[in-house]
Amino acid sequence: MSRSAELAALIRDRAGEEAPEYALILGSGLGHLSEKVEGTAIPYSDLPGFPHAGVSGHVPQLVIGELEGRRVAVFGGRSHYYESGRADAMRLPLEVLAALGCTRLILTNAAGSLRPDIPPGGLMLLNDHIAFAGTNPLIGEATDARFVPMTEAHDATMREGLLAAAKAEGVALPQGVYCWFSGPSFETPAEIRAARVLGADAVGMSTVPEIILARFLGLRAAAISVVTNMGAGLSDESISHDHTKAMAPIGAAKLEKLLRRFLREGE
Ligand code: HPA
Repeated sequence: MSRSAELAALIRDRAGEEAPEYALILGSGLGHLSEKVEGTAIPYSDLPGFPHAGVSGHVPQLVIGELEGRRVAVFGGRSHYYESGRADAMRLPLEVLAALGCTRLILTNAAGSLRPDIPPGGLMLLNDHIAFAGTNPLIGEATDARFVPMTEAHDATMREGLLAAAKAEGVALPQGVYCWFSGPSFETPAEIRAARVLGADAVGMSTVPEIILARFLGLRAAAISVVTNMGAGLSDESISHDHTKAMAPIGAAKLEKLLRRFLREGE
């Protein structure tokens, strides 16, 4: 049995057979939604190969259960490329999701905004991305399946549902392009200006490898950024991980309303 099949069996044993309809991966400062799911919480430390070292502001557990009447799998935290130098750090958890029969994934992240009309505390729905970190989670994959088309990486139907949920909740949800920087250092002001010229609307250190892996595994995916700051040099505020964690809950409250509505009314 493959490692992902073994882990899927372990998860089914504890949480039941039913496949999750949606999976959520929660970003920095956003992990607490995982604690609101009615169901079975499995610490990553019980799931060999899952990212249990983690980054502060993440909640290292997988919760399988019910949110707004939907069967969900919620990841309270993720691994980032910058933790290990491995862009495929989230491959095993995503393979496990696919093995559980889940087909839809919503990713969330904390991000810096490049657009004055998307201020800190605001949300942005990704309609495309730029893999500026210069690597790819599928490097080393030996099959032809590695040649994944990315033309429609951010699922149009899921985005429609998220936009409708945002409208219904009165939450502003502009769409934009997310540019993936490796981190862990934040960008320089020159890098932020460069990202703007390249067509980015927000910058961050995650999500893009998971979108690529999700498409590789046949999962439909959409992603939302919670803006915690303006990109370096665009405002006088200082940029730090503490600031990210302090600001994330403001956007997280809107994100939770929106996700709950989406789950209630989504496709
Ligand atoms: N840059 C990269 N990642 C981030 C930022 C940022 O400004 N804010 C939160 N995560």
